[in-house]
Amino acid sequence: MTARAIVSPHDPSSVAKVRSTYEQAVEEVAHAFLSFPWTKRACYAEYLAQTFYYVRYSTALLATAAGRFDPITEAKYQKRFSRHVAEEQGHDLLALRDLEGLGDSIQNHPEMDETRMFWEPQFCKIERKHPSAMLGYILILEGAAVKIGHQLHSTVVPLYGEATAFIRVHSEDDIEHIEKALALLDGLDDAKLQHIIENTTQSARALCLMLAAVERKATSQAGTSHLRED
Ligand SMILES: [Fe+2]
Repeated sequence: MTARAIVSPHDPSSVAKVRSTYEQAVEEVAHAFLSFPWTKRACYAEYLAQTFYYVRYSTALLATAAGRFDPITEAKYQKRFSRHVAEEQGHDLLALRDLEGLGDSIQNHPEMDETRMFWEPQFCKIERKHPSAMLGYILILEGAAVKIGHQLHSTVVPLYGEATAFIRVHSEDDIEHIEKALALLDGLDDAKLQHIIENTTQSARALCLMLAAVERKATSQAGTSHLRED
């Protein structure tokens, strides 16, 4: 409103800042994924379980964000987020089926605090900041898939065979997809771009913490109490 009239909606330096923040954050996430002990079956199983829990909320998050955009002035965002809801349908089940393919069950893997710490803040950002803030979360997840998806897939296939559908599907995400998300940055004012920058670094950090917690849990407790941390 008044702030909107003051802030330049097309500051190219702000968009460039989001892009450089995104590139650095994806680099950190890629490093965490590539350092993860995929060869340890318990680690892979816990990763699939925690992935199921956060991906289960992807469609709800995207639909919530889509519904919050102004249908007239923000129509292109609403359209893209709505399409993205359809694209994410069933992806939670890919992770669940992979876990079951290992002969395991989600019942053995309660959702971890670190997993909730990854996805839950997205609802707050969408509702209390701006729905476009969710682009930070999207950029991290899709950026990591594009960057290291193929490499991860070729690591897990020889180990777990068919129980690798979640990683396979996400390794097929193309560059175009990420470019579509980055293209949405143009036209957002500085305040909204700042929310995206915050969410990009925050989501990258939360995802890295989640992966570290998954590894710690799977390697340290040998299936005893899920409440132990070290
Ligand atoms: Fe997905």
